[in-house]
Amino acid sequence: MTSPLQHLSPVWTHLTEIQPVRGEGIYLYDEAGNRYMDFTSGIGVVSTGHSHPKVVQAIQEQAAKLIFGQMNIVIPPPAVQLAEALNAVTPEPIDTFFFSNSGAEAVEASVKLARQATGKRNIIVFQGSFHGRTAQTMAMTTSKYIYRHNYQPLPAGVFVAPYPYAYYYGWDEETTTAFCLKQLDHLLHGQTPPDETAAFVIEPVLGEGGYVPAPAGFLQALRRLADEHGILLIADEVQSGFGRTGKFWAFEHAGVVPDIVVMAKGMGSGMPISGIGASRALMEKWEPGTHGGTYGGGAAVSLAAAVATLGVLQEEGLVENAAARGAQLLDGLKAIQAKYANVIGDVRGQGLMVATEFADAATAKAVQRACLEENLLVLTCGTYGNVFRWIPPLVVNAEEIVAALAIFDRAVASVA
Ligand SMILES: Cc1ncc(COP(=O)(O)O)c(C=O)c1O
Repeated sequence: MTSPLQHLSPVWTHLTEIQPVRGEGIYLYDEAGNRYMDFTSGIGVVSTGHSHPKVVQAIQEQAAKLIFGQMNIVIPPPAVQLAEALNAVTPEPIDTFFFSNSGAEAVEASVKLARQATGKRNIIVFQGSFHGRTAQTMAMTTSKYIYRHNYQPLPAGVFVAPYPYAYYYGWDEETTTAFCLKQLDHLLHGQTPPDETAAFVIEPVLGEGGYVPAPAGFLQALRRLADEHGILLIADEVQSGFGRTGKFWAFEHAGVVPDIVVMAKGMGSGMPISGIGASRALMEKWEPGTHGGTYGGGAAVSLAAAVATLGVLQEEGLVENAAARGAQLLDGLKAIQAKYANVIGDVRGQGLMVATEFADAATAKAVQRACLEENLLVLTCGTYGNVFRWIPPLVVNAEEIVAALAIFDRAVASVA
């Protein structure tokens, strides 16, 4: 029998073989009319929900006017509008933006900018991070070995410091923060001195590596160290940005401002678009013509989708909704954890970037399968694959959270 997937590369893994023909809000529908609750948001992409009418309208209108205007040749108006709109939601002194297509591409852009601006080559990343699948970003990714399997050796100049993942170490946040800062200091003395280190690149909430918010004290210490040594602080907000954590940027929880913010995923509600933001002064150190790309800044439809996404986030109070629904989800999960403390070790998160950490991957997988049987799509993450990540579209409402929690409760009960 021939498989419907026979012409698709097997390099993709698939959580399911559902072929959705329609999406609306937090739901996906297949041809047969089955409805699935999408608590994955397509890995954090459809922030405004599937096919939000205002985003659809912006895409349709832009497509009818201008699909593409190559940035090195012309300047598509939505690029200017998007930069202005981003400036309004990003703290001083970040006021200048560069656009590209994927998260990895934007992370690479941030590293290229940091290297040129500082004249230094090395970068420090944090254990468990996921920054992408291109050669440079593979070298920066340590969330699971699979992302670099049989591709090594990778570009040099990347050094890995521990991420303040308190539950993993089995310590409190203060002890973990102190340990990680001590190890970072060790790295700066033992392997990559400040005069060779261009940047710290950190996910303010570790994503693929296990959904771990960095303690505020750790991010504040990184900011101080960066300032002290002329090292740039790069926040990879590809997954945590655009309101996901209940603030527009996750770094705001710590009251720090990075030198460069990297964005993608939730930015375009599903249209491929990414970018970086920095101060004008920093961007001016990037030699014109030394970076760019055919599509970045020119894909007018993606840019228009991003402008519309920002509008919807604001008009519908979705950042505030992420905070409120996130708190509801966290409380509900903690109540479930209290019933099944033998299988759920930790519940943590910020806004709608929430994790339940299971005792092992087999349990997480079994619970995931049980959720799927009730048409709830949920992803796992973590180096050991034992973490459930809760990442519904930011439009999710209180009843939908209650419904998802009820499915999860039954699923955990079935395996506990
Ligand atoms: C924090 C972070 N950075 C970078 C990336 C890479 O983004 P992309 O898959 O769009 O290249 C991801 C993707 O999951 C991510 O979560």
